[in-house]
Amino acid sequence: MESRRRDILRAGLLGIGTATLAACSPPTTAASGNATSSASPSGSASVVRAPAPSPTAPRTAAPSPPPAPYLSLPGTRHSFDDPRSPWVVVNKRRPLRPLSFAPADLRHPDVLTSAQGELALLNSTTADAAEKMFAAASKDGVGMVLGSGYRSYETQVRLYQSYADTRGTASADTASARPGFSEHQSGWAFDLEDSDGACAFLPCFAAQPSAVWAARRAHEFGFIVRYQMDQEHVTGYLAEPWHLRFIGVPAAMDMHSRGIKNLETYFGLPAAPGYA
Ligand code: DAL
Ligand code: ZN
Repeated sequence: MESRRRDILRAGLLGIGTATLAACSPPTTAASGNATSSASPSGSASVVRAPAPSPTAPRTAAPSPPPAPYLSLPGTRHSFDDPRSPWVVVNKRRPLRPLSFAPADLRHPDVLTSAQGELALLNSTTADAAEKMFAAASKDGVGMVLGSGYRSYETQVRLYQSYADTRGTASADTASARPGFSEHQSGWAFDLEDSDGACAFLPCFAAQPSAVWAARRAHEFGFIVRYQMDQEHVTGYLAEPWHLRFIGVPAAMDMHSRGIKNLETYFGLPAAPGYA
């Protein structure tokens, strides 16, 4: 029964049969936010007037936001924009650039996997870290399985469309990224399963051994649980206790010790509850 449900889920998740391209949103461009200067009135050369106070001018400076937590972290800082960076932030306001990005260093990690084809790949740094984490979990008696790793832009087109076709766009957007907006396309993320496949891609996975172990220890290997419970107002997604994202050991340890539940807050970037 459970394995049948898993097969059905996987078929839906990977639904790669029909390749109907979705009329997905074009990539959003970041608003520049630059103020434009307005024409100043020309006055008489012989009369000097005090400038009239503007009714819209702020009377006091806006309070500056608190510094982003990551700024206290010593050591190397990485780009939030470059998809080859372990700190790239991909969310509903920050598509991959270029939209069709594909990592140059994809490889098969030496771990148990239920994925096939490109889905069994990770970028080389994430693959190294996953191998170490799966081995440590195994020593604790926890059998982890790589359920879904790298997904190309084209695969994400089909996956998102399968969600949209079955659930409608609004519901699809709470569970699946639109093409070009998925961390899976960066090679820095993968979905975890238990070796028996129980609760794969279901909310009850949170109580499964792999998820419990990952929530307690994945940070030691550079991973965060990217979409945590009650963080939709920031991440834009319902909880996914199976979706792990590599950001490097120092940052993952720091985030965990501070109890910060999403990457946007840690890096001081805007929340991304929806597409622009
Ligand atoms: N399920 C996550 C949000 C993705 O599609 O990348
Ligand atoms: Zn995922």
